[in-house]
Amino acid sequence: RTCILVGAGMDCGKRRRGCVMGPDAYRTAGIAETLAELGWQVEDRGNLDGPVWVADAPAGRIHAREETIAWTRMLTDAAGDAMKAGFPVFMGGDHALSLGSVAGVAAHAATLDRPLFVLWLDAHPDINTPHTTTSGNLHGTPIAYVTGQPGFDGFPPPAATVPPENVCFIGLRSVDRPEREAITARGMTAIDMRQIDERGIAAPLAEFLGRVERAGGMLHVSLDVDFLDPSIAPAVGTTVPGGATFREAHLTMEMLHDSGLVTSLDLVELNPFLDDRGRTASLMVDLAASLFGRSVFDRPTHSHS
Ligand code: ARG
Ligand code: MN
Ligand code: MN
Ligand code: MN
Repeated sequence: RTCILVGAGMDCGKRRRGCVMGPDAYRTAGIAETLAELGWQVEDRGNLDGPVWVADAPAGRIHAREETIAWTRMLTDAAGDAMKAGFPVFMGGDHALSLGSVAGVAAHAATLDRPLFVLWLDAHPDINTPHTTTSGNLHGTPIAYVTGQPGFDGFPPPAATVPPENVCFIGLRSVDRPEREAITARGMTAIDMRQIDERGIAAPLAEFLGRVERAGGMLHVSLDVDFLDPSIAPAVGTTVPGGATFREAHLTMEMLHDSGLVTSLDLVELNPFLDDRGRTASLMVDLAASLFGRSVFDRPTHSHS
């Protein structure tokens, strides 16, 4: 049980700066010590040395395309290497890091001949393409890239794509029109906040985990800070009111742990420049701890061969 920490302070997926400080905020909040206390062997591989934030592209144009391509190549390789060595945690960095992290994890799953599923915990589905984006911010595009949608000129074509029906979004409350059309057309599983209000978060999550289990799948979890309600997690550039509560978020992580299905994790969009005395960084570390097995009383973990 080895956990590999991969720092990826990618900051060029959008115009606002600050996610570059994310990996060190997680370290400062004690992520390595916390996971070690839970019995994990922790290997911190330091920070990937990708391109830094650049000045705005003109409005309406794709922002930092070349920089994002370089990060995607670097992260795809790092993800493949880390998957061979253990359970990677990609410490962002903005959500554009998932173009590479998920592509690398998908390539690894393909070599094992196992289906990869992706759980996207986010206010946004991030399924714009470079053609449909109105912001030009590539952090709004990773799901389109990893499911093999067109428009990513100059990007390395992913070695393996994730079937759209293997993606589950939870927490949606800000969806652009082309994104809604893509989700509907591809029959993707999308749990918006209204469904969580009506059914709770446990039932739809359990349904999805059941599907992963029956398929013998591996599960990549991508946790965007803005999944959480801004009142408990202010350190993100794209706050959207009405997000997951502290208890919904912890229950999600505990159920993910108990499933025994999760094989990799992204922690993304933390902007420590916007934080309030480190509370968001600490909450993200606490959530990771729940996913890695912290609980009040032990429960049997479902084990997989
Ligand atoms: N849908 C909007 C866009 O394309 C917002 C994306 C926000 N993404 C994120 N990772 N916070 O720009
Ligand atoms: Mn996101
Ligand atoms: Mn988001
Ligand atoms: Mn099983």
